[in-house]
Amino acid sequence: MLETLYSEADAAFATTNHVGLNQDRQTSISVKRRQSILFVTSEIADYVKAGGLGEVSAALPRALRHHYDVRILIPGYRQVLSQIGHIEEIGRLPSAFGIPSCGLGRGQTKDGLTVYVLLCPELYERDGSPYVDALGVDWKDNDIRFARLGLAAADIACGHGDALWRADLLHLNDWPSGLAAAYLTWRGQHIPTILTIHNLAYQGLFERDRLSSLGIPDAAFHINGVEFYGKLSFLKAGIFYASHITTVSATYAKEITRPEFGCGLDGLLRTRARQGRLDGIINGSDPSWDPAKDPYLVSRFSAENVRGKRANANNVRKNFGLALSNGPLFAVVSRLVHQKGVDLAISAAETIVSQGGQIAVIGQGEPRFEAELKALAQRHPGSVGVKIGYDEGDARRMYAGSDFLLMPSRFEPCGLSQMYAQRFGSLPIAHKTGGLADTIEDGVTGFLFGEPCLYRFTDAIKRGLETFRSRSRLSAMRRAAMSRPLGWDRSATKYKDVYERACQVAARA
Ligand code: ADP
Ligand code: GLC
Repeated sequence: MLETLYSEADAAFATTNHVGLNQDRQTSISVKRRQSILFVTSEIADYVKAGGLGEVSAALPRALRHHYDVRILIPGYRQVLSQIGHIEEIGRLPSAFGIPSCGLGRGQTKDGLTVYVLLCPELYERDGSPYVDALGVDWKDNDIRFARLGLAAADIACGHGDALWRADLLHLNDWPSGLAAAYLTWRGQHIPTILTIHNLAYQGLFERDRLSSLGIPDAAFHINGVEFYGKLSFLKAGIFYASHITTVSATYAKEITRPEFGCGLDGLLRTRARQGRLDGIINGSDPSWDPAKDPYLVSRFSAENVRGKRANANNVRKNFGLALSNGPLFAVVSRLVHQKGVDLAISAAETIVSQGGQIAVIGQGEPRFEAELKALAQRHPGSVGVKIGYDEGDARRMYAGSDFLLMPSRFEPCGLSQMYAQRFGSLPIAHKTGGLADTIEDGVTGFLFGEPCLYRFTDAIKRGLETFRSRSRLSAMRRAAMSRPLGWDRSATKYKDVYERACQVAARA
């Protein structure tokens, strides 16, 4: 049944695309060639970024390109089309089920990474972010938009998109690309797939009645398939059908196998862990985050000489309406959502202000947090400054100018902000969870607290304030934080290993 469904789809390709050029693959296999990887993502910082995924999608393929022929696949949002430069339309992917046809464009990043772009104005050319409209509401057709992405990934992997290229392995990221692994399985294609979970809390859940429009066979709407408590889950599809799962820190990889962090998927994830098919690989931090070179900073500095931090601190104070002060400056740079413990940061503000500290906050997200933060700033003029919005320059100057970064996340798959803060000499005060536990050494490169509650958090803040009063301890901690290893090479080496294991799993299938 599944095979009939999918052989029809394959037949459609044979007529609309020149599949015969698979010969090219055979020729190139006999000559020793680098393995080809298609990195499928819904955001990339070069053009469009909603969070850390965009940064990882920009950095990891670049670290991997030394070893592989890595290419990116991304929807052709406005932000992509307006910035990528020349795109050559190399083919069309036919419509299938309720998923519209689209053009396949090929372009390049400034440094020559090949990017496949899905050209489908009706799905992607809109104002707003990859996931939500200008009011922050999910696009109503997100199921079709990202099924289009998943199906295109499967098409390209099989050589149906670019007649001269096909993928030896698909690297999928989060729920928007999760269906790709399922489409390949339903077509009987054993191309290895990796799914990296950047955040288990976002699952891509849709109603059951969408199955046929998305080409999902009824038989797959099952606990051993795409079904999740009566809904269709794109993320579960990825976890269930991918050859291997990774997430972005070793601690989060363990946490998600427990009910407290597993978002209802912990059972399946435990099975994958037992099968040796779940790993945690910590994200790197991009070397462009360098306080000695950062063009956004008011004054540049380094681990050896941090005097320049002061000018940045004063700039932040001025921009956030804070009084001039020699006291400690705390920063919050965050999406304003429950995950990030924004409520805890708001509650802890009283302790900080009462001890002579100041807080600068930049973020956007849930309206209730935005409103509460604005009210907090009004209650503490000169001590708490809040900007609602997203601004890269402000964020960088805040890391550079602050003494501490507040990061009381309830869970944090990896977290990049704490790594950037460390690099810029701001000590993170963070909940010991996920990537925060793996990147912060308590009392050495930051402060960790054990439970996401106000009592533990303020205790850690008080340890920070004590350290601030001891110049020698503060300097030693700053130096240690700023000297943490940088770059993506270590992570890339671990991904190489996972790729090899995924190939073995797929070969056995
Ligand atoms: P997440 O992806 O869960 O939001 P990460 O810590 O992995 O968390 O990545 C967040 C990234 O977004 C960091 O680079 C951080 O500096 C940036 N960021 C978050 N909020 C803002 C903001 N309001 N303005 C500028 N940069 C922000
Ligand atoms: C997600 C996670 C964050 C992680 C990022 C990149 O947004 O919330 O912890 O750093 O993805 O992997």
